[in-house]
Amino acid sequence: MKNIVILISGSGSNMAAIVAAARREQWAERRGVQISGVIANRADAGGLALAQAQGIRTEVVDHKKFATRTLFDEALAVAIKRHDPDARPALVVLAGFMRVLTAGFVAEFEGRLVNVHPSLLPAFTGLHTHQRAIDEGCKFAGATVHRVTAELDHGAILAQAVVPVLEGDTAERLAARVLTQEHLIYARTIFEMLY
Ligand code: GAR
Repeated sequence: MKNIVILISGSGSNMAAIVAAARREQWAERRGVQISGVIANRADAGGLALAQAQGIRTEVVDHKKFATRTLFDEALAVAIKRHDPDARPALVVLAGFMRVLTAGFVAEFEGRLVNVHPSLLPAFTGLHTHQRAIDEGCKFAGATVHRVTAELDHGAILAQAVVPVLEGDTAERLAARVLTQEHLIYARTIFEMLY
């Protein structure tokens, strides 16, 4: 069985969508793949309980306990490998994982790291993507699934979804519209990567 480890920081709705798709679409039977662990960098990440409710092993690697980014990333890499009996997960899926990763970490999992970002990259890398899209007067916004490289939000684009920015949109309303699409394109792209 190949393993997927998912990294989260918050509510984990993308993680839950991937877990649900894996069940519904029988990824284990069809691709020999399972979601073997969910790791959060915050103990209060809501997604942890969601994962546990699905019988998935969870772990917290609290970034605040590490003096440097490098030390945290090293501990994170060890934890990821602990969640895979082969110590070589097929994919490490960043799902609302709000940490900038070091080049060393990215190199260790090169080719196996994927992220979803709530904008139409290369527009609006970084934070507050929805408010920035509204402030710029964008008529469309969206989400991007991309490979992870050492440069933040810059890896090869694998999938995108577009939503309209509506009259009077707030960042919250736009975020909710985008998030619905994230759930669809992220699970679908991961499945396609599993060949
Ligand atoms: C999602 O919108 C995801 O695209 C975004 O955080 C949210 C997490 O929601 N990720 C980033 O901004 C990464 N730079 P979730 O925890 O409910 O999946």
